[in-house]
Amino acid sequence: MSKPPQEIIREEILALKAYHVPDAGGMVKLDAMENPYGLPETLRNELSRVIDQAELNRYPDPGARRLKARLRSVLGVPPGSDILLGNGSDELIQMLIMATARPDAIVLGVEPSFVMFRMIAAFCRVRFEAVPLCHDYTLDAEAMLRAIAAVQPTLIFIAYPNNPSGNLFDEQALAHIIEAAPGLVVIDEAYHAFAGKSWLPRIGDYPNLLVMRTLSKLGLAGLRLGLIAGRTEWLSEVDKVRLPYNVNVLTQSIAERVLQHHDVLAQQALAIKAERAALFSALQRIPGAVPYPSEANFILFRIVDAPRVFERLKERGILIKNLHGSHPALADCLRVTVGTPEENERFLSVLRDITTNVPGADSGGGRRLE
Ligand SMILES: Cc1ncc(COP(=O)(O)O)c(C=O)c1O
Repeated sequence: MSKPPQEIIREEILALKAYHVPDAGGMVKLDAMENPYGLPETLRNELSRVIDQAELNRYPDPGARRLKARLRSVLGVPPGSDILLGNGSDELIQMLIMATARPDAIVLGVEPSFVMFRMIAAFCRVRFEAVPLCHDYTLDAEAMLRAIAAVQPTLIFIAYPNNPSGNLFDEQALAHIIEAAPGLVVIDEAYHAFAGKSWLPRIGDYPNLLVMRTLSKLGLAGLRLGLIAGRTEWLSEVDKVRLPYNVNVLTQSIAERVLQHHDVLAQQALAIKAERAALFSALQRIPGAVPYPSEANFILFRIVDAPRVFERLKERGILIKNLHGSHPALADCLRVTVGTPEENERFLSVLRDITTNVPGADSGGGRRLE
């Protein structure tokens, strides 16, 4: 008789909770850091022609040469560094951990941060260690340097800006971390378009620095395209664990064409940044809410009775992210993606309505969490 999954599936996989993506059908979707703006009609028409000509009967170019050349020029990848493409940056995180998963390998990160660093380490049976961020989500540089000395990590992941806190970490502290690291340091710049600061121009300064980007937050989440830049001596090794044809024909041709109109995405990112400022001030005025300054396209905020606020928003057709319960440092925290002005206004008006009905959340008696 065959055995049940509990006896066949690896124990650490049995212990995991699957990455949950809630159904957002018919809702104002502000949960996943997507760009809320579609592409202009002229560009969509151009893309129809690209799709029309795509050779779907053929495998994609395994080296994605045209797309890589376009990405290099649009993103300003410094000469002398190589790039590697992934089916979203999630796949690149997986490739990096897989390629370095020696029996004694340790991946180091900070927490709270992007959950896939820890999850993918578990998929690959690699130990993951996290250094807690300070109470205001800044980097505890001393603790990080102590952890590096103690565990000698193979790989360090730093999201810059960080998800879910939205802040950029201190540059000087990061430079010390990169210098002290015995292995690779990956700066994950998924939210770069909204931050304006980057380690990409400094990639040549450090032999162990890799910089990761994605097109997801820029407006192409559905295409699934991420990239990592760094020295060839590293990327040529990581490339060996890449599945052939990981970036499909449509992603290659559509991304290449959209990037010819990169200014469209850059304009949208500017609009999102302006809206972020408006949303932040509006959140500051919500009784019982404390937003954290953000350099990304989302805002983390604490609010009295967060899980209930989240549920009430959902009942009224607004989906954001409930982080309460995901990490002790995120108690009473919710994360909202910056949407269109109309979406943000809808979110704020429902939130205002809810908070006036939450016990203890009036501006006088509200519990202000710092
Ligand atoms: C810090 C960070 N890195 C990577 C990703 C994943 O990006 P992609 O869509 O390219 O897989 C996310 C998504 O939320 C993120 O927050």
